[in-house]
Amino acid sequence: MTVILKIGGSVLTEKNSEELARVDDIERISQEITSFKSESDSDIILIHGAGSFGHPQAMKYRLNEEFNAEGTYLTHTSVKKLNSMVLESLNNAGVHSLPVHPLNSCLLENGKIVYFQLELIKLMLNRGIMPVLHGDVVMDRVKGVSVLSGDRIIPYLAPLLRASRIGAGSNVDGVLNENGNVIKKITPHSFINMKKHIKGSSSTDVTGGMLGKVSELLEVANKGISSRIFNASRKGMVFGFLKGEETGTLIADK
Ligand SMILES: Nc1ncnc2c1ncn2[C@@H]1O[C@H](COP(=O)(O)OP(=O)(O)OP(=O)(O)O)[C@@H](O)[C@H]1O
Ligand SMILES: [Mg+2]
Repeated sequence: MTVILKIGGSVLTEKNSEELARVDDIERISQEITSFKSESDSDIILIHGAGSFGHPQAMKYRLNEEFNAEGTYLTHTSVKKLNSMVLESLNNAGVHSLPVHPLNSCLLENGKIVYFQLELIKLMLNRGIMPVLHGDVVMDRVKGVSVLSGDRIIPYLAPLLRASRIGAGSNVDGVLNENGNVIKKITPHSFINMKKHIKGSSSTDVTGGMLGKVSELLEVANKGISSRIFNASRKGMVFGFLKGEETGTLIADK
């Protein structure tokens, strides 16, 4: 089985600061992935968000609105720092992992992925290595550079890698309704009425927060692949999701 696991920058970092990692959570999640790997031969592609490594720089240089070379460099450099921490933690925990930086492996057109060097990912998986991707700034044929969220990578990779278990771990128990309760399931149909209750992020975020995430995962659902949004800040939840537990919010086509 192929699993795509996205862990939000809201879990791995202190999103209201600048470049502050939650080292304990990074270590805990590495351990949970190691535990799952020790009892399963599933392939995992890990994608992590940028959190306070990337969002503040991208916002400062208004990278969503205009091209800026310096801002691009600083945003990429920042998110790479977080990526290095995640990789060190994973490899120390015993999961062979290598980085795949979107800046160096894909190309965008108006923010949409038009090319991805997929063979890199496949070759790593063939050798038992977990590819670790992340939200990044990426060259864009139209805009020069665009911000590519970790969430947006999911609908592109899922069908091409034939992923059958997809999850986005964030810092909330799932998608919440107007009363703060977890919505068990969202479909393209039910989304029409729910949309008004789903917002951006409460912290510094240039990629649409929860609404952006749900939109990307609905795109996956439209391709007939369901996914889950769950709370990766809670102990044991990443392991549970990897094992197939029905946790958080299911995003499905019907
Ligand atoms: N209806 C909703 N249900 C749940 N969370 C919501 C809702 N509307 C808005 N949010 C906000 O969305 C946030 C999650 O999105 P956010 O982009 O901040 O996290 P992430 O994707 O995990 O992190 P990153 O973007 O750094 O990878 C929640 O912390 C919450 O503040
Ligand atoms: Mg986000």
